[in-house]
Amino acid sequence: MKQPVKQKYQFRLPVVKGVNISVKYLLAFCLFIVGCSKSNEESLNPAGGGNPTGCDTVNMKYAVNIQPIIQANCYRCHGNGQSQGGISLDTYARLQRVAVTGTLVGVVSHASGFAPMPQNASKLSDCDINKIKSWVLNGSLNN
Ligand code: HEC
Repeated sequence: MKQPVKQKYQFRLPVVKGVNISVKYLLAFCLFIVGCSKSNEESLNPAGGGNPTGCDTVNMKYAVNIQPIIQANCYRCHGNGQSQGGISLDTYARLQRVAVTGTLVGVVSHASGFAPMPQNASKLSDCDINKIKSWVLNGSLNN
């Protein structure tokens, strides 16, 4: 009477092993998904605010990321000897002065109450604006 029960148990072992293997795959898959959603979360909510478009706004550095944006879009009026509106932005110290007051983010994001910049030109890309915002929110460091 007990024999069939034992046989049934032995027969089940390989099935259980098979399940274990798929549990392993399932676990690996879950870890993969968790890993992915974590990195998505980071790009959606980088320190200092970013955007979900794949624009990297994490750990923005003045020399590497910010100065080139300002040079390309602002120096013709606020650099190279130009200081329109009484403002020059061609050094870190000069840019930092308008960054800490919120003016820099105000002008580039065309916020009300600020002179929209770059003047008489199209608004910077969302990506560039978000890079500037992120850099300012992280303390507008000379990094
Ligand atoms: C075509 C010339 C021109 C360009 C390009 C330009 N600006 Fe200006 N900017 C001006 C003028 C003119 C003023 C003064 C206008 C005013 O106060 O209404 C000014 C004023 C400013 C001010 C002071 C605003 C305030 O409210 O005190 C800031 C900050 C500024 N610009 C930043 C920038 C930045 C950042 C860029 C590039 C993204 C830029 N500007 C591009 C001409 C320009």
